[in-house]
Amino acid sequence: MQYTNEELKEKIIDLKTKLDVTVVAHFYQRDEVFDIADITGDSLELATRTRDDDAEFVLFCGVGFMGQSVKVLSPKKRVVMPKIACCAMAKMIDAIYFDESIAFMEENGISKDNILPITYINSNADVKAKVGEMGGLVCTSSNAKFIISDALKVGKKILFVPDRCLGQNIANQMGLKSMVIGDGANPQDNDIICYDGFCSVHQLFSLEDIGFYRKKFPGILIAVHPECDPKICDASDFVGSTSQLIKYIKELPLEQKIAVGTEFNMVNRLRTKNTYILSSTKPECPTMNETTLEDVYVTLKAIEDLKPINEIHIDESTQKWAKIALERMLAL
Ligand code: 13P
Ligand code: SF4
Repeated sequence: MQYTNEELKEKIIDLKTKLDVTVVAHFYQRDEVFDIADITGDSLELATRTRDDDAEFVLFCGVGFMGQSVKVLSPKKRVVMPKIACCAMAKMIDAIYFDESIAFMEENGISKDNILPITYINSNADVKAKVGEMGGLVCTSSNAKFIISDALKVGKKILFVPDRCLGQNIANQMGLKSMVIGDGANPQDNDIICYDGFCSVHQLFSLEDIGFYRKKFPGILIAVHPECDPKICDASDFVGSTSQLIKYIKELPLEQKIAVGTEFNMVNRLRTKNTYILSSTKPECPTMNETTLEDVYVTLKAIEDLKPINEIHIDESTQKWAKIALERMLAL
């Protein structure tokens, strides 16, 4: 039988009151899913806030690496996901590609002891574990600059995975030299060596889009996420993570026009007027949008029937090292 969204919402609310479960949703989730969540936030907030929550089950509406981060930080919790949708950027690197990146640096005369790997939180647990085992740590888009400044103090070359844009944007902000593996540059001549991963959603924003809005609305502000290409970030007025973008935009006077370069669902619910999506193509994250209200209902019903589905399990060694990499970040 097919239910309407209103009927599904009622059923979900009813099941939530009966079950020992906390529903969490990332900012990029569809509105109807976002609305029924108990905790909402960016990827880091969701991982840390669920750690402090008492419920036995976390029902995570987001992408795979985010659900994994909750499980890694709180191994005793049972984490289920309505859809185990893998972030396209996280999919671009695995343990083998990570080892190849290390090998590339070694071939260019940088020994393993002189490499400090940092992984953006948008990576799967196997990559976080590799980074943890090598003495490295995780960063998010909100703390990447701080984490990299601290890491530089040990005087090693930084291997930054998987997002080449975030790595290069931070390097530019700090006046550091960066390269992308495969661009022909020598790692010896650079401070930050970036893996060649990227977010396809954040590549949709172009200099033409910025030019169009600046011409159409003189005085408009442009705010983008650091997963955008460095030339887009350089041409913008503000660059920030999802939480930082929300804070920045909410503090603006309502008459100030702004064009925003990040995922559609989040931008669409930010402000009632004078807010534009910085792209002629709707920038929806396909994997974030996979989770529907019906999926949430089916996943809650499975918990009620004592047959949980889509539960996150991580092997012991991956769990141990990925946790170390995440906790090194939290300790800072
Ligand atoms: P946040 O870490 O800001 O939640 O962003 C995650 C993400 O996937 C952005 O595209
Ligand atoms: Fe991954 Fe990009 Fe979607 Fe964020 S917007 S979850 S980086 S694919």
